[in-house]
Amino acid sequence: METEIPILKGRSVVVGVSGGIAAYKAADLTSRLVKAGAQVDVVMTPAAAEFVRPLTFQALTHRPVALEMFALWQETEIGHVSLGKRADLMIIAPATANTLAKLAHGMADTLLATTALACRGPILLAPAMESGMWANPATADNMKVLERRGYFSVGPESGRLASGADGLGRMSEPETILDAARWVLGRRGPLAGEKVVVTAGGTREAIDPVRFVGNHSSGKMGFALAAAARDRGAEVTLVHGPSAQRAPYGLRAVAVESAEQMQAAVWEAAGDAAAIIMAAAVADYRPKSAAEHKIKKTRGELALELVRTPDILAAVAQRRRQSGAPRAVIGFAAETDNVLENAREKLARKGLDLIVANDVLAADSGFAVDTNRVTLIDGGGVVEALPLMSKTAVAEAVIDRLAALLRRV
Ligand code: PMT
Repeated sequence: METEIPILKGRSVVVGVSGGIAAYKAADLTSRLVKAGAQVDVVMTPAAAEFVRPLTFQALTHRPVALEMFALWQETEIGHVSLGKRADLMIIAPATANTLAKLAHGMADTLLATTALACRGPILLAPAMESGMWANPATADNMKVLERRGYFSVGPESGRLASGADGLGRMSEPETILDAARWVLGRRGPLAGEKVVVTAGGTREAIDPVRFVGNHSSGKMGFALAAAARDRGAEVTLVHGPSAQRAPYGLRAVAVESAEQMQAAVWEAAGDAAAIIMAAAVADYRPKSAAEHKIKKTRGELALELVRTPDILAAVAQRRRQSGAPRAVIGFAAETDNVLENAREKLARKGLDLIVANDVLAADSGFAVDTNRVTLIDGGGVVEALPLMSKTAVAEAVIDRLAALLRRV
């Protein structure tokens, strides 16, 4: 299920492509931006057009690609500076050493550099070049100048370069650049200045060094919530169990294994937080003790003695009753039967402002899938059933409710 991303929907984004092998990845980035709902204009340098044909970008955006500074038919419609003037965001990906040098010195001899110079919105650079060029003091100085002037940057990363060598200089993946773009656009959003703690994924309770008690949580729901809060400007700490999800750009990710470790991380982060959202599937029980060595197979049966883990959410809500912080406490309820009734009971027993009730038996909802069907129940008893949505869209809805809650307290 494809989802438009509210922070990008309807925004004018200029993608500036300069000439490097990573230009092919700019096509993927462009496609992701279009799917997210942005209106994307692509500006290419002549060198970039040697790597990827402009037609590729035109097909992806359904808009003309800007290449030449004084193309007459474009001059009336677009104008060689108007693209930059109306952009909400410009992303330069890849940003080559040459392009960085031009930007640092205010040169305007390509349409890309002219657009950047005329751009009134923020500019995000995704540098890509051979590692020696990246390490060169000239490039390092140019980057410092640009950062000082308020340019944002993502990457470069280490990996295999066009030269065949491994090193620092690889352009960040399109997914990461998109994430960074969301952070740049959202940084002054309605949650700016608010600290939000989000938990995600399942905990693992050790039986011995190689086995654990766990569950099917993938972390998808919690990671989407963290990204949505980040998109509204929140300073997010994401405390997560083992997960294959990529940590979103622009937030602090704390990896934990057990319920006890999650409690310690949440406790530390929640001290001065405005809100906590617990989407993690925390094990309710753990083996009483974890064997030091791998338990050997015998002919007989094996009984595990389980003891209760701490209820992290209830403890945070309890602390709020004493100290007033955090101002908003949101929980999830993973249910297989009597979904609303059980969720209401948890909302009341744990002292929450909002609970997100999840039927985790449906094949398209709950654990590990990309979609979810949830019902939101607030402290006043108001119930809002949401249809089947992507987890990204569910996250947006929950964070909208969080923003409303924080406005009230
Ligand atoms: O990670 P995904 O694959 O995307 O799946 C998402 C999800 C199904 C895990 C998520 O949508 C969800 O429902 N999370 C809550 C899972 C859960 O543990 O529910 P619960 O009903 O057992 O717990 C109620 C609440 O108390 C939850 O907010 C939970 O985080 C919290 N809790 C539970 C036990 C415990 N010891 N400490 C807690 O804080």
